[in-house]
Amino acid sequence: MGGTGTFQGARVVVTGAAGGIGAALARRFAAEGARVAVNDLDPARVRAVAEDIGAVPVPGDASAVVEEARDALGGAVDVYCANAGLASPGDAAAGEEVWSAAWDVNVMAHVRAARVLLPDWLERGSGRFVSTVSAAGLLTMVGAAPYSVTKHGAYAFAEWLSLTYRHRGLKVHAICPQGVRTDMLAAAGSAGELVLAPTAVEPGDVADALFAGMAEDRFLILPHPEVAGYYRARAAEPERWLGGMNRVQRTWEATGR
Ligand SMILES: NC(=O)c1ccc[n+]([C@@H]2O[C@H](COP(=O)([O-])OP(=O)(O)OC[C@H]3O[C@@H](n4cnc5c(N)ncnc54)[C@H](O)[C@@H]3O)[C@@H](O)[C@H]2O)c1
Repeated sequence: MGGTGTFQGARVVVTGAAGGIGAALARRFAAEGARVAVNDLDPARVRAVAEDIGAVPVPGDASAVVEEARDALGGAVDVYCANAGLASPGDAAAGEEVWSAAWDVNVMAHVRAARVLLPDWLERGSGRFVSTVSAAGLLTMVGAAPYSVTKHGAYAFAEWLSLTYRHRGLKVHAICPQGVRTDMLAAAGSAGELVLAPTAVEPGDVADALFAGMAEDRFLILPHPEVAGYYRARAAEPERWLGGMNRVQRTWEATGR
């Protein structure tokens, strides 16, 4: 794919990039001429992606790799993609460890990265924070309480960053897809099968949507444009929207989960 030149030489970090959406984002930034650091908990797979696209591997927990990635890239980070995530299915009874792991990866990894990156971004008057949220951060996903709650948190943090620092040169993008054909969707079980699979897109489509959104300086990136209508419907008529989602829940229960 031909590059636009906008990201030529930019230093880009992508977390959770051993496959799926993260690998697609990293691949696209590399194709645009960026210097890319790819992070994931899975060292073997992230090294394979790095080799494939000419990136630097930075294996480890997404919460603790910004400085190492910055050193590996040889200077200040221009774009940080907070993409690592946990699917975290379950209801209120999901264990404390499920809730806290979801909170740690889906929200706090973003906060911890921003803490390290913001001083430099604000001093330079530029920087870009890309958050892979989910439509579950706008709409709530059946069968996945920890995921929905923490993705709402990720969305709120991205929104907070944007409204607080946009006049100081920070650009923030919140990517909110429904189903994307990745390992996570494959592992999402019957709720994913019911709600997400029928309209699922490819990871490369998510990268395309991000690049189209960045070209327009748009905060909200919707690889499934219909999500905008669902989000409006939820805000305009919450009772009706909840009734509709409860019908989805009952259909899911009827399938035996
Ligand atoms: N697939 C979908 O349908 C879908 C839809 C909406 C949003 N998302 C979001 O997209 C992001 C990427 O997911 P994906 O669909 O590509 O699935 P994926 O499972 O392929 O990718 C997630 C990656 O994150 C890594 N990871 C998990 N915890 C980590 C940590 N603490 N530190 C570093 N890496 C860690 C995993 O090893 C994995 O490689 C996630 O945030 C997910 O919530 C996915």
